[in-house]
Amino acid sequence: MPILAIDTSCDETSVAVTHGPFVLSNVVASQAQLHQKYGGVFPTVAKQAHQENIGPTTQAALQRAGVDWAEIEAIAVTQGPGLAPALEIGINYAFELGEEHTKPVIPINHIEGHVLSVLAEPKPKGSQWHNLHASLAPNLPALALVISGGHSEFILVEEKVTYTRLGWTIDDAAGEALDKVGRMLDLGYPAGPVIEKFSQHGDATAYNYPLPMTTSGDYNLSFSGLKTYSRNLIRELDQAGQLNKQAIYNLAASFQRAVFRHITHKLEKVLSAHPEIQELWLGGGVAANTELRKQLRATTKKFDAELEKKGQQARNLPLKTPYSKKLCGDNGAMIGVVASTKPLRNSKKFERMPRLKIN
Ligand code: KG4
Ligand code: ZN
Repeated sequence: MPILAIDTSCDETSVAVTHGPFVLSNVVASQAQLHQKYGGVFPTVAKQAHQENIGPTTQAALQRAGVDWAEIEAIAVTQGPGLAPALEIGINYAFELGEEHTKPVIPINHIEGHVLSVLAEPKPKGSQWHNLHASLAPNLPALALVISGGHSEFILVEEKVTYTRLGWTIDDAAGEALDKVGRMLDLGYPAGPVIEKFSQHGDATAYNYPLPMTTSGDYNLSFSGLKTYSRNLIRELDQAGQLNKQAIYNLAASFQRAVFRHITHKLEKVLSAHPEIQELWLGGGVAANTELRKQLRATTKKFDAELEKKGQQARNLPLKTPYSKKLCGDNGAMIGVVASTKPLRNSKKFERMPRLKIN
């Protein structure tokens, strides 16, 4: 039976109805506009907006799915990681609904949501949930890249859907770095999509960004050096009276390239050390970026060319991305997909876990 799934981890209030991998509805009330003037997510503003939006968003999700409460099997809700006051609203509301409609409330890890977001499937047109074969059949082991505003991680997904975090950012997340540099350039919030657009008009080789952490010997990431490099560059250009439109386009393109080059450089190392990986999965807000997808595909091609040069067989790793860009950013549907892999029984109250990890 379908699951009602709630995510209020950051600045989107999202509620979805899912059945196995199938997304029957996925309603996202974004607060991006409200946070514009702060240049980032302002926690008390987020909390209030979640409080106002959660009821209507839930109604809309049920209505769009054409499912009533009697047909809902369980309520899934993000337990963490995320902003504590924002998580609290979703969890409290889930328990209120659980009590009112006598349904179990299942705690879900938000990062696991981004990992499994690639397995979500659109509901076939005209079909009803009763007719859908609702099971997930992932091709494992897979390497999941979760690249968002809060996380940048390489996660090995193995049989029975178990997770091992192979590498993570030791400072900012990739999306956070894009947002912060965007803020230095007055591009508004969130700046990731604007940087992507500006990059299309710029020369990505105009500025010579460093490649971080090349000798660290691990799969971790670090974006704060690239951020500092940007800050200095912007200051120098500004002082020289050269911070014109084209310079900003070039800066966006060069910075974006540096962020993605860092990710693909570490990806190559992970792939070399893990020949068992069958697929690449890309999730998280930054996964919406077309250039990132292109760079990841180019990396696996280059990797295969090198294998063939050594007389080995190419791995032809497919890159899986969510079926819609709406499923890259925070959304309830991915929480529902994760819940479909869990036992749907729970009677215990649980608390928010703002710093929850995946393994
Ligand atoms: O997954 P998400 O909605 O929230 C977190 O869990 O963090 O990710 C939001 C992040 C923001 O940093 C935003 O700038 C970035 O994703 N983002 C993008 C694009 N769309 C959203 N970054 C680069 N290119 C995009 N097209
Ligand atoms: Zn997220």
